[in-house]
Amino acid sequence: MSNSTIEERLTIITTNENIPENEFSSDVKVGLTSEPKFLPFVHFYDHTGSQLFEKICELPEYYLTRTETKILEAYVDEIISQFSEETTLVELGSGSSTKTRILIEAFLEEKRLSCYTPIDISRQMLEESSYALLKSYPVLEITAVAADYNEGLKQLSSQTDQPKLIIWLGSSVGNLDRSEAEEILKRIKKLTHSHDRLLIGIDLKKDRITLEKAYDDEQGVTAEFNLNLLARINQELGGDFNLEKFHHHVRYNDKIGRVEMYLASDCDQQVIIEDLDLEVPFAENEKIHTENSFKYSLDEINLLAEQAGFFVEEQWFDPQKQFSLNLFAPTDVCSLKNFRRIES
Ligand code: AVJ
Repeated sequence: MSNSTIEERLTIITTNENIPENEFSSDVKVGLTSEPKFLPFVHFYDHTGSQLFEKICELPEYYLTRTETKILEAYVDEIISQFSEETTLVELGSGSSTKTRILIEAFLEEKRLSCYTPIDISRQMLEESSYALLKSYPVLEITAVAADYNEGLKQLSSQTDQPKLIIWLGSSVGNLDRSEAEEILKRIKKLTHSHDRLLIGIDLKKDRITLEKAYDDEQGVTAEFNLNLLARINQELGGDFNLEKFHHHVRYNDKIGRVEMYLASDCDQQVIIEDLDLEVPFAENEKIHTENSFKYSLDEINLLAEQAGFFVEEQWFDPQKQFSLNLFAPTDVCSLKNFRRIES
């Protein structure tokens, strides 16, 4: 890597230029005319929503971010030591890339980082975080991809033959059903060679109180994050939701192993969404399902890895075992290792 200007060290690939702006409006129409009502979680993350999410990450009740950061700090050398050659660091849903700095710094120190490739749906977020990183690290090179996971992963396949460390942090996988999670991991698996690894942060099953508090904080930041969906509908689609007449509702569904988030109507009411030509009736206490956050047991993590063609090569926890960082390796490596073990 050379010492050159920020512009020379940054490439941004945009594949989402033609993502339909009206995806929001069609999703709202489908979701609010369904029975039961729902809204897809992806729409949380407009500019305000992204800022609120950053605030959530700092809440005392939201142990996830803090705990994952501590695990990363404690074990970064061990993680890095899995890679002996120059490595490309790829990040899915990079956001502000705050936690990634821990890995970037360790790789740079060992002079083993070839390139950092963040993939994020928000081009603005990518630009901001990339500039900040390039300013902090004068030898770092970034190829950023503005795309959703699917498009971003397609881009990746054409990138490099060097070893890749793909990271997917923050328990983002938790937003997906277990079968959707399997699908995306299979897609990642297709892109990996035997020397590539996936580092994935996964939140663990635990007691109901801790889980429900993490999504229903005292300050009401998560409630604001949830209600922001209705504010978006008002602003962008001419809705007339009265945000005072809906409330944030959270429950841990222990049968399915997921925290569910809802917006519940305080009373019988009609909401008009002008741009959709839609009148939406709500019964008292009727709910809009807005998010799932799946929690995993260690067995379920092993199963997830296996179903997608990986195995859990290394696994790290915080002392209280609230959260897990997992290094998934392609299964073909596992059989190779076993083979060598049998031979010797
Ligand atoms: C970004 C999916 C990891 O489910 O914990 C935080 C999103 N929602 N508080 C999570 C979220 C409400 C978060 N993930």
